[in-house]
Amino acid sequence: MFARSATRSLNNARQFSSSAARQTKVAVLGAGGGIGQPLSLLLKQNRLVTSLNLYDIRGAPGVAADVSHIDTPSEVNGYPADQLDQALEGVKVVVIPAGVPRKPGMTRDDLFNTNASIVRDLASAVARVSPEAHLLIISNPVNSTVPIVSEVFKKAGVYDPRRIFGITTLDVVRASRFLSGITGTDPKDCNVPVVGGHSGATIVPLLSHVAHGKGLKGESYEKLVHRIQFGGDEVVKAKDGAGSATLSMAYAGAKFTDALLRGLSGEKGVITPTFVKSPLYADKGIEYFSSLVELGVNGVEKINPVGPLSAEEEKLLEACLPDLKKNIEKGKAFVA
Ligand code: NAD
Ligand code: LMR
Repeated sequence: MFARSATRSLNNARQFSSSAARQTKVAVLGAGGGIGQPLSLLLKQNRLVTSLNLYDIRGAPGVAADVSHIDTPSEVNGYPADQLDQALEGVKVVVIPAGVPRKPGMTRDDLFNTNASIVRDLASAVARVSPEAHLLIISNPVNSTVPIVSEVFKKAGVYDPRRIFGITTLDVVRASRFLSGITGTDPKDCNVPVVGGHSGATIVPLLSHVAHGKGLKGESYEKLVHRIQFGGDEVVKAKDGAGSATLSMAYAGAKFTDALLRGLSGEKGVITPTFVKSPLYADKGIEYFSSLVELGVNGVEKINPVGPLSAEEEKLLEACLPDLKKNIEKGKAFVA
């Protein structure tokens, strides 16, 4: 798993060794859930993680006991519902997959009523106990939960936009896999940047930016874009009431966490899409946007512009922005 990046991680750890890189405590909040469990398993295999704190309102000590037997050096601790503060002490990275998933017929926005307060309360605890931690938000609706976390940090007076990320990596993973499936290529050669947000029309794949994608036209192009935008629905439907993507999300979450840890440890040129506070469409009143972001020792190092767009991509972006704006405003208003 992550063979190439794992090798890079090891080389990186040697090359950029510092006490910060050698002692990286990562917390998973929601570690007992469908995403949290396999994500914890994958993070236990990451040599840049030296300590893993697993927290959930249900079952985290059991998951921690299980994962702790895996033969990598990191230490694993599990924390029950009443030990959130202890779980957050000294953490450098906090990954949050806590919250309810969709059932068939629901949109991600339908999760807002339940997940907004879960994410707000967890973010408040992080702002109080580990204000310098980097927060990686998986809980949906990401377009609103990232603004919620940011507002909580602003209120607490500890906001640094370079440290708050919405994980959109699953869209990138899907785009890569789906494109490779129709072009008969290897997904590693189909690294499609996906920009915008994380739900339906706000997900904008830039197929024109990759060699294997730019030739697609007409119906095959439209079908692929639709599949990338609504890949989550495919899983929700197939799981038939038992939840949404968990395993592919755990993979995507571990992949993004690895990228961030490599950036934090000093590796240069770590660039991946992520939903962050962004100047790109601020003139249109859109404060958060996912585009290719360079990760570095402080978190967000550089936000890249989306680059040249095809006529189809211009239209996708036009459709994305109003929805995204509404989702962001809803998140901000919830904390205000
Ligand atoms: P799940 O129900 O299997 O697990 C959620 C876990 O969160 C449970 O173990 C639950 O006990 C825990 N939890 C609830 N409230 C909590 C709290 N206050 N503190 C700590 N833990 C708490 O759900 P899942 O399938 O793992 O999905 C979790 C979230 O991730 C959902 O909101 C889902 O929509 C989202 N998701 C996002 C992406 C993405 O691409 N960003 C992909 C898939 C799923
Ligand atoms: C996904 O894209 O799979 C997640 O956001 C979960 C969902 O609700 O579709």
